Amino acid sequence: MKQEIRITPSILNANFAQLDQEIAKIADVSDLIHLDVMDNIFVPNFTFDFEAAEKIIKNCPIGIDAHLMVADADSIAPRYAEVGAQSVTIHAEATQDISATLKQIHSLGSRTGLAIKPNTAIDTYFDFIDDVDMFLIMTVEPGFGGQKFMVDMLEKVRKARGVIGDRPIWLQVDGGISLETIEQAVAAGADTFVAGSAVFNAQDPAAMVASLRQLAQNVAN
Ligand code: DX5
Ligand code: ZN
Repeated sequence: MKQEIRITPSILNANFAQLDQEIAKIADVSDLIHLDVMDNIFVPNFTFDFEAAEKIIKNCPIGIDAHLMVADADSIAPRYAEVGAQSVTIHAEATQDISATLKQIHSLGSRTGLAIKPNTAIDTYFDFIDDVDMFLIMTVEPGFGGQKFMVDMLEKVRKARGVIGDRPIWLQVDGGISLETIEQAVAAGADTFVAGSAVFNAQDPAAMVASLRQLAQNVAN
């Protein structure tokens, strides 16, 4: 089965002072907008508190893919589902009861994502496959945009693709995705791509999203 490719640009490197305009530049060509929520506890950086994130979710013309890099995901993640994030991704390392939290997100009507950091092995998390709509394999250490893609994460992507097989579970990679790296990630089995600095540092962000999609579709298995 050919991987269906999705591009979910991150606004982490966009201009936060005029986010509406920044999102408008890419909304028509993106599948979802990837919203990086950082609390300065789980990661050494801060982006949005819940109230600010809620406004972005409610104003966004397309669905939001909320990537929660926050401690205590168990209590915070359901709030994102409640306010309409189309997808809510929790970190395995930040969640006490992964199964219960994924089920709660589902019961509130959002898709579920389970993310793992570069130093976290994925194997034990396949146990949650029945409650997961997307696995997110971090290809940089979470916290900042503009970092170098970690090639050695591709093995984890291949392993995840092997387990997912043809199930309708998305396999997302996040960190360092660009015209130089997206093809190897597709070849390893990823189908959903976060790109932050590659998109927002480009002269024409929409054209960059289209180019990334084209490259990925050309190598989709
Ligand atoms: C990093 C974030 C990423 C970040 C990616 O912790 O989760 O979504 O925005 O940025 P780039 O694409 O620049 O690596
Ligand atoms: Zn992210």
